Amino acid sequence: MLDYIDLEYSPNDNDLKVLFYVENSIYAPSLEKAAEEIAKESSIGTWTDIITLSEDIANRLRPYVYHINKELNYIKIAYNEELFEADNISQILSAIAGNIYGMKAIDNLRLIDIEFPKNIINAYKGPKFGIEGIRKLLKVFDRPLLGSIVKPKVGLNPNQHANICGESWLGGLDIVKDDENLTSMRFNKFETRVIETLKIRDKIEKETGEKKIYMPNITAPVSEMKKRADFVIEQGGEYVMVDIITLGFSALQEIRDYLDDKNIVIHAHRAMHAAITRYPKHGMTMLSIAKISRLIGMDQLHTGTVVGKMEGGEKEVIDINRVLTNRVIVEEDYSILHQDWGNIKKTFPVASGGLYPNVVHKLINILGKDIVIQAGGGVHGHPEGTEAGAKAMRQAVQAYLDNINLSEYAKTHNELKKALEKWKDIGI
Ligand code: 3PG
Ligand code: 3PG
Ligand code: MG
Repeated sequence: MLDYIDLEYSPNDNDLKVLFYVENSIYAPSLEKAAEEIAKESSIGTWTDIITLSEDIANRLRPYVYHINKELNYIKIAYNEELFEADNISQILSAIAGNIYGMKAIDNLRLIDIEFPKNIINAYKGPKFGIEGIRKLLKVFDRPLLGSIVKPKVGLNPNQHANICGESWLGGLDIVKDDENLTSMRFNKFETRVIETLKIRDKIEKETGEKKIYMPNITAPVSEMKKRADFVIEQGGEYVMVDIITLGFSALQEIRDYLDDKNIVIHAHRAMHAAITRYPKHGMTMLSIAKISRLIGMDQLHTGTVVGKMEGGEKEVIDINRVLTNRVIVEEDYSILHQDWGNIKKTFPVASGGLYPNVVHKLINILGKDIVIQAGGGVHGHPEGTEAGAKAMRQAVQAYLDNINLSEYAKTHNELKKALEKWKDIGI
């Protein structure tokens, strides 16, 4: 019987490493046994010895469980990169995040982190713009970018949608985006919406002298998605948005390649990620999904807010943002692997979901200034409407930059004052 556990093994630069949380079941009487089953099933083996698995194959391709921590139920496996088709993320996941989740040998299994070797990193383009490119495009260098999601999520017609974008920009926001479930509806066709919204964008850019961004959601079957991206480009748009999980990683690779020679930023929405990431003992972490998204080339990615309406604790969101932006993890941290990104640019982390002016200081204190802050209800729910809501968000950020506390700043900024009053008792 081939031995997959070798705690003396020291991984080399060609190994892809994976950190798993494992709970063995009654079918695998120990963590070691479960670890062995995981290593086997995710690579060259199966439930029994196989005559067709030669010594040569075993020697070349066998993965090594090189670390077992029984207190934390963590194991680390090093996989030879020959096991993977480097530029095929679907294949990589079918191995390291595939059949193993369904094995009887485990009760729970969570992929905590992946460390890609250089050859795999080099097989991807990563973000075309990244944080630096986006900041240059918007000419905003010293503060978080500010955005809104048009609300209601769906229901408005193209004209109403465009007008709400206009009010948001006029109030001082940089970006307005479609919601995750708005694509091309009977009452709001994609093409008409893009035309109407970009018309207003041009007008507001002239009026304000600021760069304004619209992020239309092109999520659709791949061939249609490409047509929608082309349409946005023809109309003078600079961004597209994609729902990365519902689309699937192959679609993301395809659209990233398709857009490579076009001047367009890709914003990644993570709707449905929590089906995979939320249960803390099983599935895979948002951190791993963030790594994959950066590798494929998403310029911006939703990562959580800590203070908003969606789950995601402080350490988790900070770690994800660090992984996207190369910020070094200083403390000895067991739940994260080191990653050398080579020439891959940084992905802009997006904080979105249940944000409003009152929490802006706290949010920036936790996540720093290299974030995109988006508020839907926190803008369009302002008692005086969208434009005032946008102003209140911008004022909250300005107060932070000027180092003035919010209630002090609100004394001379009516929109902020109204927002603070409306949402003072919200605890989400
Ligand atoms: C998230 O998952 O990051 C958000 O809650 C959803 O993002 P949205 O606000 O842009 O829809
Ligand atoms: C969402 O779908 O979660 C939103 O786009 C974020 O909107 P919110 O700011 O109203 O929560
Ligand atoms: Mg949304």
